[in-house]
Amino acid sequence: TTRRKKIYEGKAKILYEGPEPGTLIQYFKDDATAFNAQKKAVLEGKGVINNRISEYIMTRLNSIGVQNHFIRRLNLREQLIKEVEIVPLEVVVRNIAAGSIATRLGLTEGQPLPRSIIEFYYKDDKLGDPMVSEEHITAFNWAATQEIDDMMAMALRVNDYLSGLFSGVGITLVDFKIEFGRVYEGDFSRIILADEISPDSCRLWDAATNEKLDKDRFRRDLGNVIESYTEVARRLGIMKEMP
Ligand code: C5P
Repeated sequence: TTRRKKIYEGKAKILYEGPEPGTLIQYFKDDATAFNAQKKAVLEGKGVINNRISEYIMTRLNSIGVQNHFIRRLNLREQLIKEVEIVPLEVVVRNIAAGSIATRLGLTEGQPLPRSIIEFYYKDDKLGDPMVSEEHITAFNWAATQEIDDMMAMALRVNDYLSGLFSGVGITLVDFKIEFGRVYEGDFSRIILADEISPDSCRLWDAATNEKLDKDRFRRDLGNVIESYTEVARRLGIMKEMP
């Protein structure tokens, strides 16, 4: 077997050197972590499903002009992506109260928010990804004001498109997390969508029953994690036959 150079290993994915300059290979692991990696498990087949779901979503987003790092899927667990300089922020968009906003602001889970809300978190495992404001982001130079505007505009487009996509298959998009990266073109750089979009990074509820079809099943020990991820893929019309 050929040895590829590992560029980075995260909790759920590994990045390897790509076949051409400016490309990387993104490998989806079966590992699941929650609560800043205090809770860990291996969920057999998760990487395969998330690779496919993220491929599907990134391809659709690209077709509506939301530029992203996805180039093509290589095999069950790997996709070829553009190399980016990752912006050290997690951008969360919320439509319905759940998770940390419910705790922080004393909201009831399931309560619709007055409008879609965007939040920024500084990516730092040691600190537990603290929420930060635009003031912090520009002061510490994590992103420029224009880049923040671009990320917010893209985040809202992703939210609008995915809300419709999921609602069309009977799923409510409660909230999600995305990440961005910079690609350099001469003296200029632009922001594109990076990382993954999958049931690991979204809250997805069955529209009829509010049953959770996402990583909260793992976080809260609700069981049937893989079955739920598979159901999301099935409803999106991908993975006709599942492992
Ligand atoms: O935990 P919280 O309510 O802030 O999460 C908001 C959304 O962002 C959820 O969909 C969650 O799955 C996602 N998220 C993530 N990675 C993190 C934190 C949150 O994908 N590190």
